[in-house]
Amino acid sequence: MSKSKLDLDFFKKEVYMAPKTVAIIMDGNGRWAKQRGLPRTAGHKKGADTIRTVALAAQDMGIQKLILYAFSTENWKRPEDEVSYLCKLPGLFFNKFINELMEKNIQVTFAGELEKFPKATQDVINKAVNMTSKNTGLELCLAINYGSRREMLLSIKKYADEVASGKRENDLTEEEFSKYLFVPEDIDLMIRTSGELRISNYLLWQLAYAELIFTPVAWPDFDEKALKDCLDEFASRDRRFGGLTS
Ligand code: FPP
Repeated sequence: MSKSKLDLDFFKKEVYMAPKTVAIIMDGNGRWAKQRGLPRTAGHKKGADTIRTVALAAQDMGIQKLILYAFSTENWKRPEDEVSYLCKLPGLFFNKFINELMEKNIQVTFAGELEKFPKATQDVINKAVNMTSKNTGLELCLAINYGSRREMLLSIKKYADEVASGKRENDLTEEEFSKYLFVPEDIDLMIRTSGELRISNYLLWQLAYAELIFTPVAWPDFDEKALKDCLDEFASRDRRFGGLTS
């Protein structure tokens, strides 16, 4: 029996301990490139390949939804050539991997305001979302032009409009509020790569009871083994949700 087969058996056995929802801040592309004397865009290109590796591994490891911070509402402040490359990356990524994502039954979704992107970027993302919409495996959610404060603000505005127009009662609960967000689920595990110890306006509501892991590994170097290490660490944590250990 090959090692990878053995590893997969391990995850099938341990699946009950796998986090359902995992969010990742894919940090360190720029530093990874700089260390190699390459332009920052080379780090993003390698980072996009890492998305494929990690999505396939996440599915094998029993994760149900993987949310990746691909472009924040603050990333527009970067130099024009870098922003322009980041806008092209979804096209390059899906050209290369959409068939494999289909074969693996992976569903692509996104969280954020797509409208601000060039039409070509919007089209490519919408196409991937539509193509994979019936898939029932891992949900691969790209947080793109996403910011958590903006997400909450938009949700509150939408709710207030619905109340003002008589569409709903003024009876909001935490559970109901979650449904207005781009990402309605609570996050079980949040990983940030490349050593920075910040949340950076990511899923502030949804991370309320998430386990947090900050790894020094740069995103382009993050792989199956790095993900497995994070899941091992997650499995060793005692999650109490404000209560007492059972
Ligand atoms: C942070 O690293 C990374 C980003 C802002 C972009 C992340 C995007 C990808 C990995 C690819 C997206 C691909 C698709 C298909 C949507 P950084 O540039 O801030 O790194 P640094 O802190 O080392 O400078």
